[in-house]
Amino acid sequence: MSAYKPPHIPASEITPEHIYLNRRTLLAAGLAAGAAFATGVGSDTANAATLSQGEALKTVPGPFPAPKRAETSYQDVTHYNNFYEFGVRKSDPFENSGDFQPYPWTFEIGGMVQKPKTVDIETLLTQFPLEDRIYRMRCVEAWSMVIPWVGIPLKSIIDMAEPLGSAKYVAFEGVVRPKEMPGQRGFGQPMQWPYLEGLRLDEANHPLTIIAVGLYGKTLLNQNGAPMRLVVPWKYGFKGIKSITKITLTDKQPPNSWNLLQPSEYGFYANVNPNVPHPRWSQATERVIGEGGGLFGGGQRIDTQMFNGYGDEVASLYAGMDLTKNY
Ligand code: MTE
Repeated sequence: MSAYKPPHIPASEITPEHIYLNRRTLLAAGLAAGAAFATGVGSDTANAATLSQGEALKTVPGPFPAPKRAETSYQDVTHYNNFYEFGVRKSDPFENSGDFQPYPWTFEIGGMVQKPKTVDIETLLTQFPLEDRIYRMRCVEAWSMVIPWVGIPLKSIIDMAEPLGSAKYVAFEGVVRPKEMPGQRGFGQPMQWPYLEGLRLDEANHPLTIIAVGLYGKTLLNQNGAPMRLVVPWKYGFKGIKSITKITLTDKQPPNSWNLLQPSEYGFYANVNPNVPHPRWSQATERVIGEGGGLFGGGQRIDTQMFNGYGDEVASLYAGMDLTKNY
């Protein structure tokens, strides 16, 4: 006679049922979500931090082909970052973001809209399919990466609030939490908080523009802008505001943090343009992170492409504009 073996108990029977349902609902990302909210699971979700950093997400393939260059490793994408709320060095976001709590999280959409809303990020993840979008990213400091984002078209999110016909721009605000963000505490802070960004409404509505909620099929780590950040692949990386708390439709060009800090160096548009040098360095080439050299220097340089290679898709947005003045 063989010894008694206990039956295998599936996780669904061990985990308290409401948490299990939440998690399944979230990972299903839109499938079956409506039912969950109708039964009140959604309100639980808003109070309990059910998601965490680096958690697997269910995704569908995005609409754009992957760029021809190799993807930057997960290690490099998560260890070489700009996120001044955690400090100004590239290693600071990884090293100093451990206290930041990205879940639960709500953000506001308001301003010139019919239906201003406060949206819970976990609710958002159940309302839209999460798309895999592999984009080239080009930083103003002349380095680049290829990142497999998980995102939602920004247009889908904006449309939830029904913008008025008179709205022309979208303003974004980052988070202010000095207790969790050492770069926002003490003396010698590099900029004013919150971090601010803006897009023209047609740029925001462009199908390439996404709110990223993950990368490499997992929720964002703090250093990459958890739980939600902007990604506009034809613009320099500084437009990609992280940890967004507020999205405001407006008829005036919104301020952006780098332009406020140094207007002669950073404009509103920030389109990748090899022909317009940064006042202190050329923008004609870029260092490809992960292709030779160390993370912090050296390695292969390649020619930078107009609009970061997305010219066929976006050049028409700027027809007739002088891009040396609108930098
Ligand atoms: N968002 C916030 N809130 N704070 C920042 O300092 N830095 C920007 C942008 N978004 C920044 C931010 C800059 S300069 C860049 S290059 C990108 O984030 C870097 O994104 P990554 O670290 O995920 O590659």
